Amino acid sequence: MIDATFDYGPRGRVMVVGDPAELARETVDLALTTVISAQAERRWAYTALSGGSTPKAMGEVLARQPYRDLIAWHYLHVFWGDERWVPLASPESNAGEAKRIFLDYVPIPASQVHPYETEGVTPEQSADRYAEMVRSLVPSEGGVPRFDLIFLGMGDDGHTASLFPHTAAIHEEEYIVVAHEVPKLQTTRLTFTPPLLNAARLVVFLVGGAGKAQRLKEVLEGPEQPDELPSQIVRPVAGELIWIVDRAAAAALAVAADLPRG
Ligand code: 6PG
Repeated sequence: MIDATFDYGPRGRVMVVGDPAELARETVDLALTTVISAQAERRWAYTALSGGSTPKAMGEVLARQPYRDLIAWHYLHVFWGDERWVPLASPESNAGEAKRIFLDYVPIPASQVHPYETEGVTPEQSADRYAEMVRSLVPSEGGVPRFDLIFLGMGDDGHTASLFPHTAAIHEEEYIVVAHEVPKLQTTRLTFTPPLLNAARLVVFLVGGAGKAQRLKEVLEGPEQPDELPSQIVRPVAGELIWIVDRAAAAALAVAADLPRG
């Protein structure tokens, strides 16, 4: 159940739900609606998942009845908006975890599930090959592949996908997928860039927990500063931006002052 909805204009529409379980359920409902209508209109649906903990809860719900049978899995492609430079078998792998938690338990053809290559190639080769695959599979509009639905999380530092504060990828305009060193994490990440994210029909941020409240307030209600808060760079050009957040994450929002606490 949605407690409240707040319109932040170009910064998106915020839907506040009670708790993480509600967040997962609302996310599944939105995912189903979006994928089913995309398939009704264009036969195929193209989605990209984020890493982190929030999509896992959604995946667990989606893999169970009655939800499992509501999606035409044979007409769905699943990609990832970002990936860590680890083997698929690693518990750090976004694609590996999603497969182990739910994608291996639904009837989606393996050829329609697209992990990044993270072994036997360089990060740059992996990013280029992923971009090439996205371009070959996802129909483009205006020269950029247009996803029906991209899920994103927001880190407590305001990062999203693997666009971290003060990294050049935030301002990438040519490449749709890049590999880059993230100094803060001392690791390599692969990530969609703003041109690809912002070409989507619908981008959904999933944000839960009190630890995100202050940063969410800054991202939604503070000054425009995408180098500090990369989540602010996400502005679908001709699409919709929705935030599904739980009450704990919404607690610092000015508009949420009268919401019940806890
Ligand atoms: C990753 C994610 C990252 C994540 C945020 C939020 O690879 O870690 O793509 O951008 O979405 O860090 O993570 P939580 O949802 O677990 O808070």
